[in-house]
Amino acid sequence: MVSAKKLLVVHCGVYGHTRKICEAMRPVLAAQGAEVTLAALPDQAPEPDDFDAVLIGASIRNGKHNPAVLEFIEKHRAQLEDRMSGFFSVNLVARKPHKNTAETNPYVQAFLKSSPWQPDQVGVFGGRLNYRRYRRFDRWAIRFIMWMNKGPTELDTDVEFTDWAAVERFAEEFARRVQGKAE
Ligand SMILES: Cc1cc2nc3c(=O)[nH]c(=O)nc-3n(C[C@H](O)[C@H](O)[C@H](O)COP(=O)(O)O)c2cc1C
Repeated sequence: MVSAKKLLVVHCGVYGHTRKICEAMRPVLAAQGAEVTLAALPDQAPEPDDFDAVLIGASIRNGKHNPAVLEFIEKHRAQLEDRMSGFFSVNLVARKPHKNTAETNPYVQAFLKSSPWQPDQVGVFGGRLNYRRYRRFDRWAIRFIMWMNKGPTELDTDVEFTDWAAVERFAEEFARRVQGKAE
């Protein structure tokens, strides 16, 4: 019997949308035979050594991924390079059709330039905009960013710009590649 591949999905966000994307990936990964563990940075950071593959998802806040993501990568670079690995970014710039691929999204490109680790698979997904949920400073910060970028600024806006079919496709491809590489 072929044993299930152990897959670590590390997520780092603020208001739960990156986690929601990872939760949506979980059954897709499991359907391909993976045993999935979800962990949140910075509080939880399991050792990649215990897994066959690692996927990292991080959201953008005021132009940056959380520094905890880069710290995790720097600390575990060798282990990440040693196994199948993936990265995806969650941001609102990705709501724009010409900025919704790894090649065209500026945050993903900046990440790849600054990261010592180059993941085997890279993706980007549109995030959620929900002004009512944010703390006051965050609300004004993201509203200003939306105003600058011609996005929604009405304070009752609550919209997910996430292409859930693309999330599924990304997870499916990742799981298939894990099977291929780890066997
Ligand atoms: C305070 C704040 C700042 C943000 N800054 C940016 C930004 O600079 N660029 C961008 O594309 N999206 C930005 N976003 C959008 C988030 O990336 C998006 O809402 C994402 O879904 C957040 O995921 P999370 O809930 O996992 O943190 C910002 C959101 C907040 C709340």
